[in-house]
Amino acid sequence: MNNRKAVARISATSRFLPDQIMTNADLERMVDTSDAWIRERTGIRERRIAPPEMGAVQMGERAANAALEKAGLSPSDVDILIVTTATPDRLLPSTACEVQSAIGASRCFAYDLQAACTGFLYALSCAEGHIAARQAETVLVVATEKMSVITNWEDRASCVLFGDGAGAVVVQPSLNGEGVLSSHHSSNGDLASLLQRPAGGGRLPLNEERLRNQEHMLQMSGPEIFKAAVKSMAKAGSKVMKDAGMCADDVDIMVPHQANIRIIESTARYARIPMDRVFVNLQHYGNISSATIPVGLDEAIEEGRIGPGSVVLMTAFGAGLTWGATIMRW
Ligand code: ACO
Repeated sequence: MNNRKAVARISATSRFLPDQIMTNADLERMVDTSDAWIRERTGIRERRIAPPEMGAVQMGERAANAALEKAGLSPSDVDILIVTTATPDRLLPSTACEVQSAIGASRCFAYDLQAACTGFLYALSCAEGHIAARQAETVLVVATEKMSVITNWEDRASCVLFGDGAGAVVVQPSLNGEGVLSSHHSSNGDLASLLQRPAGGGRLPLNEERLRNQEHMLQMSGPEIFKAAVKSMAKAGSKVMKDAGMCADDVDIMVPHQANIRIIESTARYARIPMDRVFVNLQHYGNISSATIPVGLDEAIEEGRIGPGSVVLMTAFGAGLTWGATIMRW
């Protein structure tokens, strides 16, 4: 998509974060790690953990209802509901259908989109496409993740990184040229094994041995992911700025996927965006996978860092591998 008029805008944002906080000190009591190591290597100080009875559906429901309320809409106004999650409550039916039922959006059609941490940006492009094709006037995008249930709490290299939560946005037709200016997304399945949950699906169904070996939990090659994340997000970010006819100076704020402060700093450096124009909240929540960007947008608006006319650059990277960037005028 190159340098064209915006067709879709985000008309409301929201977030839901569970109350329970797990600090780095809590993790020190669980695995061989330290608050100093986690802060220095990742920037994370604490993360939220959902209670056992609360899954992706309930967190998504809370975020979805809040977004609709802010937009002044009722659930029956939703034409299409897209849910992004790597942690569905159940494998069938889709989380989207369960969220649809929970919020009473009876008129819409609902589907899941799985692109791990990049899910939100992929979904935003789908929403934009539905609006451009005149299939919808109102698309609700919900990103909801209970990362704590797929985290291997014995693996210190990954368990310090993740947290739970949800974000939602309402996407509607652009009114005065505001909205998505350019998006660019990619994937590379050749590198799927760098970040995966090997067992629990069709190829390696769960059995006692696989459960014992925690093969159904997240496995990650951290340093490889790190390098790929920086390179890919920086390239995608530069491309969407160029396609929108903009440069780094035009960007009021970058809201990147929140995985590691060093990934964010390196990406910002490559994209030539100073850190005072980069939104960071990973110290409070860790990596909430696809929910990091909508949660970040919602907080940045609340803090007055995004307002009408702001140019917002979003970049994401995740399992798949998947990555992408979107630039929009608020
Ligand atoms: N506490 C203490 N020591 C640790 C911990 C820990 N929690 N984890 C690893 N170490 C040790 C390692 O064992 C290693 O020790 P050694 O030198 O004796 O072998 C040492 O620290 C360095 O390990 P590295 O893996 O090289 O550390 P690195 O600086 O790469 O940081 C990290 C690891 C934080 C995982 C980093 O690679 C990273 O953030 N990668 C990206 C992963 C990610 O974000 N994944 C999420 C999904 S994709 C996405 O959202 C972008």
